[in-house]
Amino acid sequence: MSASNPVPLKVGLVGGSSGFISKAHQHAIFMDGTRRVVAGALSSDPVKAKRSASEWPYPIKGYDSYDAMLQDELAKPKVERLDYVLILTPNHAHFDPAKRFLEAGIPVFCEKPLTLTVEESVELRERVESRAIPFCVAHTYLGHWTTRLARFIVRSGLLGKVRWVDASYIQSWMAIRSRDPKFKDTVWRIDPSKSGLSNCGGDIGTHALMQMRYITGLEVEALSAHLESLVPLGGPEEDQLDDHFTVYCRLNTGARALVRASQIAIGHKNDLRIEVNGERGSLRWAQEESEVLVVNLIDQPERVYVRGGVRANDGFFSDLPEELMSETVIPWGHSEGFHDAFARLHRCFEDDVRAYQAGAYNGSDGSQYATVRDGEIGMRFVEKAVESNRNGNAWTAL
Ligand SMILES: NC(=O)c1ccc[n+]([C@@H]2O[C@H](COP(=O)([O-])OP(=O)(O)OC[C@H]3O[C@@H](n4cnc5c(N)ncnc54)[C@H](O)[C@@H]3O)[C@@H](O)[C@H]2O)c1
Repeated sequence: MSASNPVPLKVGLVGGSSGFISKAHQHAIFMDGTRRVVAGALSSDPVKAKRSASEWPYPIKGYDSYDAMLQDELAKPKVERLDYVLILTPNHAHFDPAKRFLEAGIPVFCEKPLTLTVEESVELRERVESRAIPFCVAHTYLGHWTTRLARFIVRSGLLGKVRWVDASYIQSWMAIRSRDPKFKDTVWRIDPSKSGLSNCGGDIGTHALMQMRYITGLEVEALSAHLESLVPLGGPEEDQLDDHFTVYCRLNTGARALVRASQIAIGHKNDLRIEVNGERGSLRWAQEESEVLVVNLIDQPERVYVRGGVRANDGFFSDLPEELMSETVIPWGHSEGFHDAFARLHRCFEDDVRAYQAGAYNGSDGSQYATVRDGEIGMRFVEKAVESNRNGNAWTAL
């Protein structure tokens, strides 16, 4: 946890003039009083970038490009520079600002999917590792307290050896976008030059994969994938990026997993969920009911764990980790959700940034947030899924 009354960290934004995710990050940055946005190159349009900064709810320094923001930082003494940069641009505009701010020694918090190509993500990972500098990929849902509890339960062995994982992220926006004006700005997601090799897989399949890897600790060794475009956009189907992404996986312990995502399922909003089945029991978690975790063990009544209501010794657990139990949470009975999950990621990242500044940062083990390596694995997963699909759904090693 952060020291009491520290000087707030100075955060600079790249992107953020639009997009609901920008607002979510702002809440999360502000939540503890120990971080604040001080600067931003908020749009690719220089005029809009400056205007958006001038309309920010409190004074921040606006730049017409992230290059101008970087040059300004480089001209300052190190202690006065931004403490970290948050990248909120579409996928094709993650790599260049991330690389350049890292090069300047400034830690980076970057939206997912990490980059446009695997090669770019490898380059970022190598830079992060060679400089030993904090880097977070914004896999939001790792920040839910119940995701952390699920990770502890599965890794404690309570469910026995994992046999099967079903991780899915189901939305409807592709099916309803022509009718709903709020989806008109999402057009870059279906443009391969801005989105990457996959729309649905990169955008939300990577979240489902990350949830599976984070909770179970298991890795995908090989996959067989179907990428489909079920909502016609006009042109030839083969030119269209996927809106329906289904990947059957062999994991490194011999367990199996289904990692799937869809944007065509009317009625589903932000339906990320996971079920882990082991030899002795199973666990279920869903983002839309994120305060609850359900555990079933053979011959035992179903247990529904509610955030805040979990005791260190409830008959199942004798030793919940201190860091989990002492996590900053709102008292039970008061809803926690998306913003709190994001805040938990920024809070953990803050700890690493402060350690880095004190010369005491030894790298992230991935237990608090998704690392640049996780981002690279997500990119590789999507690339191999595209390859498998192209080769008639052939089993493809990762
Ligand atoms: N973690 C999550 O749950 C989550 C949710 C939504 C979006 N995202 C990710 O966030 C990113 C942005 O998505 P969005 O839906 O907010 O997109 P958006 O199009 O709504 O917003 C993108 C913003 O980036 C700005 N921008 C583009 N190029 C720029 C540049 N060169 N310099 C400065 N600003 C630039 C745009 O002006 C705009 O303000 C994507 O990578 C997306 O995958 C993550």
